[in-house]
Amino acid sequence: MKIRNFVKNAFIVLGLVLLAIQFIHSDKNISGFKAQSIDKKFPVNKELAAVLKTACNDCHSNTTEYPWYSKVQPIAWYLSNHVIDGKKHLNFDEFLNYPLHRQYHKLEEIDEMIVEDEMPLTSYTLIHTNAKMTEAQKEMLIQWSKNMRDSMENWYPADSLISPKKRKV
Ligand code: HEC
Repeated sequence: MKIRNFVKNAFIVLGLVLLAIQFIHSDKNISGFKAQSIDKKFPVNKELAAVLKTACNDCHSNTTEYPWYSKVQPIAWYLSNHVIDGKKHLNFDEFLNYPLHRQYHKLEEIDEMIVEDEMPLTSYTLIHTNAKMTEAQKEMLIQWSKNMRDSMENWYPADSLISPKKRKV
């Protein structure tokens, strides 16, 4: 009997906690700020823009499209942490604010992440099945990142594409 009461109380407490956290508000990533977006300097055609929008932008831009369940805690926290972390590593809408060597390095990382199938995150594609890229889309993104690096190599002195920490003096 005692154990049953304990379990019952534990469920009540859990229920109250779940109820209470619903009032905690997670900030939304919906500023839409695009003044320094990648396409202001690097050509992004419609096809590529569409892939970035469905596969990457929820976590790597200033505009996340939130699903209905994002209103429910603790899911909201979970999503919000992914967006914060994703944007910290790469934000397509603030790309031109990065120093040149960082822009170049991020283009390399995009290539790597796609080749290694690390992006988009599996936790994301499980639900957003349309974010799963086809082989052709992956190839397009990889080729684009290569072309953009080639362009940077043509536009800028080689030294500016290397992090100051790694430059030989
Ligand atoms: C569900 C959120 C989410 C989606 C969608 C997503 N990413 Fe990420 N991305 C993250 C997070 C979180 C990190 C940082 C932690 C990590 O590296 O796992 C990250 C890191 C990165 C990095 C930087 C790696 C580094 O070492 O700094 C690149 C590049 C990247 N993602 C590219 C992409 C591309 C390209 C897409 C679309 C094809 C994409 N991501 C889709 C969440 C996401």
